[in-house]
Amino acid sequence: MDLTALFNFSYGLYVLGVKTEKGLGGCVVDALAQVTGDEAPLLMLASMKNNHTNARIKAEGEFTVSVLAQTVDPFVVANFGFQSSRDTDKWANVPHTVKDGLPVLDGACAYTRCKVEETRELSTHTVFFSRVADAWNAPVKATPLTFGEYQKSMKTAAYEAFKRFKAQGAIPQSAPNWRCTVCGHVYDGPVPFESLPADWKCPLCGVGKDKFEKF
Ligand SMILES: Cc1cc2nc3c(=O)[nH]c(=O)nc-3n(C[C@H](O)[C@H](O)[C@H](O)COP(=O)(O)O)c2cc1C
Repeated sequence: MDLTALFNFSYGLYVLGVKTEKGLGGCVVDALAQVTGDEAPLLMLASMKNNHTNARIKAEGEFTVSVLAQTVDPFVVANFGFQSSRDTDKWANVPHTVKDGLPVLDGACAYTRCKVEETRELSTHTVFFSRVADAWNAPVKATPLTFGEYQKSMKTAAYEAFKRFKAQGAIPQSAPNWRCTVCGHVYDGPVPFESLPADWKCPLCGVGKDKFEKF
């Protein structure tokens, strides 16, 4: 059996938001999928039993999903994936909004709020079948990050960001994102926005650099 065959499956990357005893928690997951497509779709989430998020979903019966964008700061994945909400206030480290008592990540592509309908205990994971109770898109369109892209091009940067975070005891400052004020295009090119030539144009609507803003 060649298990690398499974690397060809496609997954996204998501941040879950939950309520904790002290405030807010959550973690990064890739094992999330839509399993029915009716008016109120059902999602399936495989959650590790020793994660605090697992216990909080069981306690509260609900969670939010923020769909990570390709432009996400690798620190966000590290913040939610490399430490536990048992002893860290992860949401204090990232821009977020609390909607009806649950947190969502600013700058994500889209969001859902989910209510657990059924659970199935496996040996290491709990599978939560959850109904989508609310869903909304981000005001600015962004492209979702896939788990494969994260593995290929972001994983090392996430580890580096986490090392800096632990060494400095501070949130690492990443380069700001730049957005076109005319069409909403978010610059995600290989060089910093500032070093683009003066005559560079927005690839979507053709306006100049002066029409871009930091966010
Ligand atoms: C890229 C990535 C993908 C992950 N996917 C899952 C997943 O699908 N399910 C899960 O339960 N944990 C997953 N994790 C692990 C949790 O995010 C991690 O154990 C986290 O620290 C748990 O935090 P918590 O104790 O606050 O819940 C993933 C982590 C990373 C970095």
